[in-house]
Amino acid sequence: EKGTYDYFMLKEIDEQPFVIRKIIQHYQDEENNIKVEQAIRTEMAEADRIYIVAAGTSYNAGLVGKQVLENVAGIPVEVHIASEFSYNMPLLSEKPLFIFISQSGETADSRSVLVKTQAMGYPSITVTNVPGSTLSREADYTLPLYAGPEIAVASTKAYTAQIAVLTILAVDTAVAKGLPLEFDPLQELAIVANAMETLTDQKETFEQMSLDLFKDTRNAFYIGRGVDYYVVQEASLKLKEISYIQAEGFAGGELKHGTIALIEDGTPVIAIATQENVNYSIRGNVQEVAARGANTCIVSMEGLDQPGDTVVLPHVHSLLTPLVSVVPMQLLAYYAAVQRDCDVDKPRNLAKSVTVE
Ligand code: M6R
Repeated sequence: EKGTYDYFMLKEIDEQPFVIRKIIQHYQDEENNIKVEQAIRTEMAEADRIYIVAAGTSYNAGLVGKQVLENVAGIPVEVHIASEFSYNMPLLSEKPLFIFISQSGETADSRSVLVKTQAMGYPSITVTNVPGSTLSREADYTLPLYAGPEIAVASTKAYTAQIAVLTILAVDTAVAKGLPLEFDPLQELAIVANAMETLTDQKETFEQMSLDLFKDTRNAFYIGRGVDYYVVQEASLKLKEISYIQAEGFAGGELKHGTIALIEDGTPVIAIATQENVNYSIRGNVQEVAARGANTCIVSMEGLDQPGDTVVLPHVHSLLTPLVSVVPMQLLAYYAAVQRDCDVDKPRNLAKSVTVE
């Protein structure tokens, strides 16, 4: 139930720290080691390439998952849009492993890929919030999200739960392969949960920021580089699906190849800057659009922040920043929709699970 909340979406945004803590509990054993089914461990260790297949927000979580899996577990990963994969299948590696990410476990586009890859004899894991769902029953293995029911059409807590579970899977694989680990994932996730809480406690800030950015606008741009680019894609999806503001997430360096032509006086441009290696270049992109009149704001992270940044996120491990940087993005989209009197939980033309191809 919604309780004191106006909309499920806000309740679900607020639940995220709790969900992360629940995931930590479920995926750890008595000795505080990561606990993942042995059969999944074996499949992960044997795969020479992982194919992540998903749609919408789950696809966006897959992009972040790729970054973590490649960095931590050392396995090449491709992320595919389910509806494209069905008829435009890439050349597969010798020992592919398929990971289907789906909050509902009912997305028909993803299921149609699963049916095909299973007929080809390839192993599959479903990462889902609904064990017992179609994708969960039909795949070989399931990794549950433990996020609790997600009611709002706009996915929030499932996104962060998906990234957390993929991180745990990546670390588990690294340990199984005897790879060196430079961080304790469960401890780092606990830090993430606290950081999320700091942000959900500052709702008025994001409500005001949303007004400043989106009040009279028809469109908005988000920019980022590296893993921040993946998060801005999710940020723009959130904004467009519930507030109907035309929004796009771009790679900072790509602006000059065309998109910068769209910048006018007052166009909102929100930059995420949580990565040290691109901190200088993404800030350069912000200056470029500001010089053309954009209404800019920078969401940076403690340690990399500079005077004038609009939001400074609490510091977390550099691979886990999406879990934290997405929270202000969700809140900005939420308040934009509320300010425009939109039906936040049930945006027009959309359904919670898309069971048609
Ligand atoms: O249930 P799934 O995760 O498979 O759903 C995939 C997409 O339909 C879903 O993420 C959709 O994009 C959301 N409305 C995004 O907020």
